[in-house]
Amino acid sequence: MKITIINGSNRENAQSFRIAKWVKTRLDLNHKDIEVDFVDLREVDMSFVPDEYWAGESKKAKAMAAEYKKIDESDAVIVVTPEWGGLASPVLKHFILMSGYAFAHKPVLVVGVSATPVGGIRPVEDIKHTFKNARGVFMPEPIVINSVNSFALNDKVETEHDEHMFPRVDYSLRLLEQYAKGLKIVRESGVIDHEKFEFGM
Ligand SMILES: Cc1cc2nc3c(=O)[nH]c(=O)nc-3n(C[C@H](O)[C@H](O)[C@H](O)COP(=O)(O)O)c2cc1C
Repeated sequence: MKITIINGSNRENAQSFRIAKWVKTRLDLNHKDIEVDFVDLREVDMSFVPDEYWAGESKKAKAMAAEYKKIDESDAVIVVTPEWGGLASPVLKHFILMSGYAFAHKPVLVVGVSATPVGGIRPVEDIKHTFKNARGVFMPEPIVINSVNSFALNDKVETEHDEHMFPRVDYSLRLLEQYAKGLKIVRESGVIDHEKFEFGM
């Protein structure tokens, strides 16, 4: 089984990147048989119009296709999104928008990251709505990390916040693995018809 983690912030010192790496440490520790790949949106140049990507010829379009291949080959995806203006980041939404069917009928665990004590859930809700055509399946045990700068989140439980967060994240990851197994059956059922039903309603 393969799971890809996406860092959804393109800020150089993104907290979302730090959290994405931390989630990877939890997967590496507790799910040794799962292959983990990484998409870092700080490294992906999406400054183009959709037509350029669809034409597929430019350097940027080819680089994007290489990132989507990682999602295509995955059984599940973890999306770490910052809260920006009460929304998920534009680059992350653009990445999902242009993804074709790479995410389709695969479980997506969303992790919302915010610097404030009242943030983190809004980008999780926002990501739900980006999957109309991409057909990623929102996993109903998302993670919300608010006041992110106050939390070290190292390798082991050190603080009261860690005591709350480590089991929560580990639980979501265990569930994600089971959703991945379950939805593989759906993808292999032969029922999915993206030719006839190209776009979601
Ligand atoms: C353009 C922008 C808008 C932001 N808007 C919000 C917001 O609406 N609510 C919030 O809790 N934090 C907001 N923040 C702070 C982020 O939550 C904070 O930067 C956090 O670390 C996650 O973003 P990062 O992964 O890019 O670091 C905003 C940050 C930026 C750069």
